[in-house]
Amino acid sequence: MGKGRLMLPPEEMRAFGQWVVEQLLDHLAELPELPAAQREPAEKMRRRLEEPPPSAPRPWQEVLQRLERDVLPAVMLTTHPRFFAFVPSPSNFASVMADALASGLNAFAGTWAEASGPAQLELTTLGWLRELLSLAPTSAGVFLSGGSMANLTALAVARQARAGERLDQAVAYCSDQTHSSVERALRLLGLSSAHIVRLPSDDGFRLSPAEVASRIAADRRDGLRPFCVVANAGTINTGAVDPLEKLAELCRAEDLWLHVDGAYGAAAALSPQARARLWGLGLADSLTVDPHKWLFQPYGIGCCFVREGRLLEETFRVNPEYLRDLEPRAGEVNFCDLGPELTRPFRALKLWMTIQIFGMDELVAAIERGLSLAERAEALLRERGFEMVTAAQLGVLTFRYAPEGLPMVALDRLQERIAAAVAEDGLAIVQTTVLRGRTVLRMCTINPRTEEDDLATTAELLWQLGEEAHRRG
Ligand SMILES: Cc1ncc(COP(=O)(O)O)c(C=O)c1O
Repeated sequence: MGKGRLMLPPEEMRAFGQWVVEQLLDHLAELPELPAAQREPAEKMRRRLEEPPPSAPRPWQEVLQRLERDVLPAVMLTTHPRFFAFVPSPSNFASVMADALASGLNAFAGTWAEASGPAQLELTTLGWLRELLSLAPTSAGVFLSGGSMANLTALAVARQARAGERLDQAVAYCSDQTHSSVERALRLLGLSSAHIVRLPSDDGFRLSPAEVASRIAADRRDGLRPFCVVANAGTINTGAVDPLEKLAELCRAEDLWLHVDGAYGAAAALSPQARARLWGLGLADSLTVDPHKWLFQPYGIGCCFVREGRLLEETFRVNPEYLRDLEPRAGEVNFCDLGPELTRPFRALKLWMTIQIFGMDELVAAIERGLSLAERAEALLRERGFEMVTAAQLGVLTFRYAPEGLPMVALDRLQERIAAAVAEDGLAIVQTTVLRGRTVLRMCTINPRTEEDDLATTAELLWQLGEEAHRRG
């Protein structure tokens, strides 16, 4: 091949592609036997990988071997059946192939003129989600890179629609259980930290409408301008769902925007079993839901819906002269006008392909499996002697190894030592969080390929590591 064209010979490209697919298939087959996590120290990784860029070509086989040896083993496998930390991302093969296709095609999914097929697929897939989540027909959505960007996008619309020009006095409310991406988004949007009010949650770790109402009244007396409440549909810590209907009522009465962060939890509304727990999603002015969490997509695909869909365009549309030729005609949508990104990848393809290839019944069954796995984990942990702190809720549970007679601080430290020892062991990943100042162990069980045996061996390992850490004192 001639110089400067960045091409490989066709037969090599074929072999290269086949190698990648084989590698992925082997990885999937071996996954349950692999350690769930392997963390290497910074010095070791730097020694392995820091080097000047090569000026001469290297054979792709050699590069891939190196990748396989030096890079790929050093990751926490968020698709692993015993990865129970944070919110797992148990993607599926159809969506992985879709990502490869989207990347190979490199469609520019910012404007209709450049990618009408991808734009219509995004509209179709968003329309499915809108129906499945029972959102208002006036809603419009947009796919983004994840929950953080979806929260930022929704709150940018909220600011535009309700805070107006007086940003220095604008106040937003959420509970102390709200994901950090909300605070970051509000800060990026120009709110001062003092005006991002994190209210203490109630006994069930939910935002109390009465607390919000009295704080709004106090802030108004002080001359401030409340504009937004952020509610949770599944908190990261415990899976708690805030009282969405009551908060929507309050926001209506007070003329405030209600944003619901359902980044991981809202997907559970697809299950008839769990729908009632998430009642009121459709009352939100905006909603975040992340397909790369409980809709089984690889990173990064988040989604934001806005009930009065036209507000997305009113917030984000700008009209530079160099894009005049790409003006949408009747019925066409330029997704670059509905969010902060102009150049954006063809994210809809992976979710569309998942739904086409597996069907909705299978997707709902996979969500419901996550719900029952959490209940099963709770039963196993209780049987083994763990103290349950919060029962299984939307696939999340928190608990403690709590031998009698230990002072609080030692008990907290013990949970941290157990989580560190599990990570060191590698069999599973279970991490801690803090609830009301106390350290607890936490599991999120939304991987539909987790087996009962994975839960049982993890519970046993946690118990043994707890005993060992306690014995050593
Ligand atoms: C409730 C909630 N909101 C927002 C986020 C942020 O999403 P992302 O990590 O995709 O940016 C998360 C991530 O776990 C989450 O659980």
